[in-house]
Amino acid sequence: MGRLTGKIALITGGASGLGKGIAQRFTQEGATTLVTDVNPQGAETAEALGADFLEQDVRSEAGWEQVFAQLVERYARVDVVVNNAGIFSNNPVDETPLDEWQRTLDVNLTGVFLGCKHAVRAMKRNVGGAGGSIINLSSVVGLRGQLGGSAYGASKGGVRLLTKTVALENARIGIRCNSIHPGVIDTPIMDPLFASSSDPQAMRAGIEESLPIGYMGEPARDIGNLALFLASDESVYITGAEMVADGGMTIGLP
Ligand SMILES: NC(=O)c1ccc[n+]([C@@H]2O[C@H](COP(=O)([O-])OP(=O)(O)OC[C@H]3O[C@@H](n4cnc5c(N)ncnc54)[C@H](O)[C@@H]3O)[C@@H](O)[C@H]2O)c1
Repeated sequence: MGRLTGKIALITGGASGLGKGIAQRFTQEGATTLVTDVNPQGAETAEALGADFLEQDVRSEAGWEQVFAQLVERYARVDVVVNNAGIFSNNPVDETPLDEWQRTLDVNLTGVFLGCKHAVRAMKRNVGGAGGSIINLSSVVGLRGQLGGSAYGASKGGVRLLTKTVALENARIGIRCNSIHPGVIDTPIMDPLFASSSDPQAMRAGIEESLPIGYMGEPARDIGNLALFLASDESVYITGAEMVADGGMTIGLP
């Protein structure tokens, strides 16, 4: 028996990075897993992990309705929804174009709002009031300020408090909602940042040196295992929590 055997799980943005790492741990622990992503190449990732795949843009409410209709048709219910899809932006507030601000908020915050809205609707219909677990990807940048983090930080701070509201509204009916706050995890989301440097290797070394633990996180081990715990019945008393996985980044300088 795996730790998620019998559970039906949906993970957005699962074509790469953290979503892929979470899908890896979920399928290894027995969950029937549906991965979605705006990138159709996610189909290959999903197949390799033994998961199903649907193309989805999390900004579209009609898209969310279609995904949940498919979920219910295929599996009759949904136990776990991981709102993971996200994009990075890195500009000081006075240099952030309005369209970059809006795009970041649309994907990172509106996408998570729509995911929570339709997850709660679907989980309320689970037979026997079984409830469910919603897991939202925020960031350490959703907990404190960061240079260049105007749009990204606003979106991730919004996810943090949206999570607590969803948790409060649904605590009595067994639907839990928690946020994960990764520090620096080695995924493709970091590529534009490294590409912007004249010396990406030195930039990487500098970031690692700044982390108390001394190295970047790894998707499946450091975030996949945390999501696995929050998805499983091991965490039934945990809701509205902000779970930090950052190698000590938020506690202070090393
Ligand atoms: N990697 C880190 O260090 C880190 C730190 C803190 C938080 N996060 C958060 O974790 C989540 C995953 O990030 P990652 O590092 O794996 O990045 P990533 O770029 O590797 O993966 C993000 C995935 O989301 C998908 N996506 C983007 N826009 C989408 C949309 N509109 N609809 C559906 N899918 C969309 C992308 O195609 C991609 O597959 C994000 O929410 C990110 O903000 C990451």
